[in-house]
Amino acid sequence: MQEVKDNITINKTTDNDGVIFMSVKNDNENNNDNNSSENITILAIESSCDETAVAVVQNGRYVLSNIISSQIALHTVYGGVVPEIASRKHVEKINYCVRAALKEAGVTLKDIDAIAVTYGPGLVGALLVGVSEAKALSFATGKPLVGVHHIEGHICANYIENKELEPPFVCLVASGGHSHLCIVKDYGEYEIIGQTRDDAAGEAFDKVARAIGLGYPGGPKIDKAAREGNPDAIQFPQAKIAGAEYDFSFSGLKSAVLNYLNQAQMKGEEVNISDVAASFQKAVVDVLTEHAIKAAKEFGYNKLAIAGGVASNSALRESLEKACADNGISFFRPSPVLCTDNAAMIGAAGYYEFKKGVRHGMDLNAVPNLPLGDRERRFHANTNN
Ligand code: KG4
Ligand code: ZN
Repeated sequence: MQEVKDNITINKTTDNDGVIFMSVKNDNENNNDNNSSENITILAIESSCDETAVAVVQNGRYVLSNIISSQIALHTVYGGVVPEIASRKHVEKINYCVRAALKEAGVTLKDIDAIAVTYGPGLVGALLVGVSEAKALSFATGKPLVGVHHIEGHICANYIENKELEPPFVCLVASGGHSHLCIVKDYGEYEIIGQTRDDAAGEAFDKVARAIGLGYPGGPKIDKAAREGNPDAIQFPQAKIAGAEYDFSFSGLKSAVLNYLNQAQMKGEEVNISDVAASFQKAVVDVLTEHAIKAAKEFGYNKLAIAGGVASNSALRESLEKACADNGISFFRPSPVLCTDNAAMIGAAGYYEFKKGVRHGMDLNAVPNLPLGDRERRFHANTNN
């Protein structure tokens, strides 16, 4: 099956086990524009959660192939990602994805300059599959190994479709496990200025979706249901944390939605799911927009980017687009398929790490809680500079 949306073509097939195999192409992308005299070609691997993804990326910004094998349908029946199933499916799919990515890019392992892999944060068993594959490929070919931080990958997805984007800029990262507001000071240099105190934004979407019966994965389902609802129907609280103006808290909002549902049930009132979805989404979008714009203005940056699965939310994209325009800030966002987990973003981040001289050894391990912006996290890396 072929899906074409906003110049992105996704060729999809479903394997016998229900895993969806996707090859993603940006029809606007002209890789012939890549007129650098020296090409660095990276084979990138991502397996931190429920997507087995492999991509070939040149010079950090030109995607030669982008393969995603999504297990989402397998986990939907359990209402969330089951780590053991995720790891097992990564093992089954990863070699096929590597072959497909190389084939589609029209290259062989000989043409690859380095192998980049997500080594954290994420599910340890899932991460280990990608890390082991990358180490095996590196060992067998003698090509350098570069471990990449998953969230840095999400941020670097912005470089792929915005060839002109360069640091410094402010980036709002909102995924299933993380909500960060950070300043991208330079390639690979991140200063966190705000983060969630409890649930991540994506986690709140997933939990509220489950409570209103939309199921997993919650974000896209709430996004869709909200289009039919009234965002002003219910006033859910917007969490603000005294003395920490850039931090987020979404667990209070989630509890407010649960209380609203319980009260309606006790009173025997019917709940309008679309209104709840739209009102909850508005509460999240408003706070994310407000904090991000405030950060850009107060820290004096005129570029704002968004990253992570929640960055594919249509209301958030619209809200930030408008707020940026109103405040004279340039707004950058990856296409939705590059916001959710993929390996092209790991190839982009891996390129800048490679250029800095970051190399990992065969002792590279999965680090499930790898912190963002902490140079010490490179405890396994040898850096030439
Ligand atoms: O970045 P991601 O693919 O994986 C992690 O690194 O966590 O983010 C997944 C999260 C999930 O919580 C999912 O519900 C959320 O992103 N998400 C969305 C949308 N698409 C995915 N949230 C809101 N609106 C969406 N359209
Ligand atoms: Zn992610």
